[in-house]
Amino acid sequence: MDATTIVSGAYQPGEDERENVLRPRFLSEFLGQAGVKDNLAVFIQAAKNRGEALDHVFLIGPPGLGKTTLAGILSRELDVEFKVTSAPALEKPKDLAGILTTLSPRSVFFIDEVHRLKPAIEEMLYMAMEDGELDFIIGQGPSARTLRIPLPPFTLVGATTRAGMVGSPLVSRFGINVRLGFYDKTDMVAILSRSAAILGMALDIDAAGLLADASRGTPRVANRLLRRMRDFAQVDGKATVDADVVRRGLGRLEVDAYGLERHDRDVLATIIEKFGGGPVGAETLAVSTSESVETLEDYLEPYLIQAGFLMRTPRGRIATPLAYRHLGYAPKHEDNGFQF
Ligand SMILES: Nc1ncnc2c1ncn2[C@@H]1O[C@H](COP(=O)(O)OP(=O)(O)OP(=O)(O)O)[C@@H](O)[C@H]1O
Ligand SMILES: [Mg+2]
Repeated sequence: MDATTIVSGAYQPGEDERENVLRPRFLSEFLGQAGVKDNLAVFIQAAKNRGEALDHVFLIGPPGLGKTTLAGILSRELDVEFKVTSAPALEKPKDLAGILTTLSPRSVFFIDEVHRLKPAIEEMLYMAMEDGELDFIIGQGPSARTLRIPLPPFTLVGATTRAGMVGSPLVSRFGINVRLGFYDKTDMVAILSRSAAILGMALDIDAAGLLADASRGTPRVANRLLRRMRDFAQVDGKATVDADVVRRGLGRLEVDAYGLERHDRDVLATIIEKFGGGPVGAETLAVSTSESVETLEDYLEPYLIQAGFLMRTPRGRIATPLAYRHLGYAPKHEDNGFQF
């Protein structure tokens, strides 16, 4: 695939196409995150009134919370072109230059996984973001000269699951910082209800509540579980996804009432069984559970921490009393920082 894709309509690169049916297209369809939405609405309106590009936007948050969705929404609300790429697709500075010099004015240019930019590309981006121009060195030796190319005004939207890995020179060039947190139960119920309506399925309120609890505060997980529940209901000849369908369906998927999956339970059980409850370093834990450090840190840990099963300390990861109880282990009486 090309380094960029102009997204019009349904297709977004590298993603499950089915996800797009459920993807909110405008701010009004983006549920929850009220503070984020209210602020963005103001910044969008102000930029439109001035006829300027929106300031650069930095989107931070765990996977599946709506970063890519918001980037698309920004372009639609601003009514401008949307160009999408991902940092690993930008191999050479000319890949970036090729995109920047062909943007139409006030475009939204989305770079996913912005923590993975190569240094030379990141440096080129600094100048593009701050000064709206690019420098090219032409020729070699004493006759070399710099060619300065002005760029059309544009909005860079950079997304990352790992804010800590993005250097401060880049961070400081974003004028708008958006941090997405896990959604609460009310928002998850609203998201599930919206998705069920789009999919034309009947979801009763108890079922929505159970699914909301099992969705890790993450819309992508909610939508995935919802589709599977639809499958289970359909095969069982049920017209409505009710609490019974959800309980049995989650059981079959090995998802528990807290939304923990087998991987999550393995991680917790490993800390408890092999490392006496912790602390254990991320690398050791990753090796012991056959996960990559990235999967562990990006996908598994954020929710385990937020839900109170895991603590990240300077000395490593610690399983909390809730983890012991949830997995059916006897509480521990040693000095891992907890009193039982
Ligand atoms: N606020 C929301 N309201 C309704 N649906 C949402 C919301 N946020 C996300 N979704 C749904 O969740 C799915 C995942 O969101 P999205 O792809 O934007 O996550 P992401 O943060 O970009 O994840 P990743 O870090 O993996 O790229 C979307 O397809 C969309 O259907
Ligand atoms: Mg994304």
